[in-house]
Amino acid sequence: MNDVFLRACAGRKTDYKPVWLMRQAGRYLPEYQKVRSKVDFLTLCKTPELAAEVTMQPVDILNVDVAILFSDILIPVEPMGMRLEFSENRGPIFHNPVRTAADIQALRAIDSPTDVPYVLEAIRLLKQSLKVPLIGFSGAPFTLATYMIEGGSSRNFIHTKRMMYQAPDQFHALMKLVSSVVTEYLLAQIRAGVDTVQIFDSWVGALSPHDFEQYALPYVQEIIRAVRQAERKVPIIYFAFNSSGMMDQVKKAGADIYGLDWRIDIAKAVDQLDRKYVVQGNFDPCALFGTRETIHAEVQRILEGARYAPNHIFNLGHGILPETPVDNAKAMVDAVHEISLRAL
Ligand code: CP3
Repeated sequence: MNDVFLRACAGRKTDYKPVWLMRQAGRYLPEYQKVRSKVDFLTLCKTPELAAEVTMQPVDILNVDVAILFSDILIPVEPMGMRLEFSENRGPIFHNPVRTAADIQALRAIDSPTDVPYVLEAIRLLKQSLKVPLIGFSGAPFTLATYMIEGGSSRNFIHTKRMMYQAPDQFHALMKLVSSVVTEYLLAQIRAGVDTVQIFDSWVGALSPHDFEQYALPYVQEIIRAVRQAERKVPIIYFAFNSSGMMDQVKKAGADIYGLDWRIDIAKAVDQLDRKYVVQGNFDPCALFGTRETIHAEVQRILEGARYAPNHIFNLGHGILPETPVDNAKAMVDAVHEISLRAL
């Protein structure tokens, strides 16, 4: 197996920098569109053979160094008692948003082998054929709670923050339940065979650093502590999107690797992480709309910026956009491999 990614996760030296792209299996790939034209998104997530097929597509097409399980962060939330729909134009929708104590009471913890067996089956299938490591993942409690409370995507998270401020006991009760689900879900994925886990905190940047420490961070810390007790030790990546104004708080999460968006200079981020942690990311997904030359130059700039980190996993600072030309994504991957191989 190509072990460059896992060596980098461990902070060991590598011949070149590993690279993958968040949302690397997705709509920008004609091969994905072809599978997706026959089934809706939730069916794709729930059919292990198809989920495994699209997980592998970018490994072959882009030559990335790691695969990420094809699924969604909202998959384990549905069996808690939430009615989930993926709308073609509005994104994810929960038809029964959580607003009251009674709504929280009505939710339940999940048991992954019985409630989301297709996720674990997809992992087992992938582990039989993949030549690169496999990343499992979960949403972080705050990000999942925003979807549950708002009933979908949101701009200002008013319902979430109203609950936080007006009914903090309720909010904490929900966070506690979601955290127990995330922990069990990640441990089940590790048992099924994933090599690394990533925790996506996509909306935590909506919080002040103070509120982050009070309402979100303790739950991430607890999950990471619990995942570290797994029979099989795996590296843990924490990706807090839009959090460059609170690196001092984020780095207390206890992760092995911290994901970075593009809103922070990577050298500065490495310093703010005390040059102690492996970093991942930093390439603006929109920079893939440049030319071969601008992509090359941007890859070089980011690789150089990360040189004082124990290691660097090259990635975008957020998911690849559906409009992205596949050839530009390939050019980025090739540039990472070529430049980092020469420079080391
Ligand atoms: O990275 C990968 O290739 C693995 C698959 C993956 C998906 N979603 C597939 C997906 C992963 C890791 C996610 C995580 C996810 N899902 C996050 C965290 C990362 C982030 O982007 O901040 C969030 C917030 C979600 C929730 C979600 N899922 C939204 C808001 C949407 C709609 C927006 C959109 O891009 O359409 C989804 C749908 C979704 N998840 C798609 C894919 C490939 C598009 C579905 C389609 O095929 O129509």
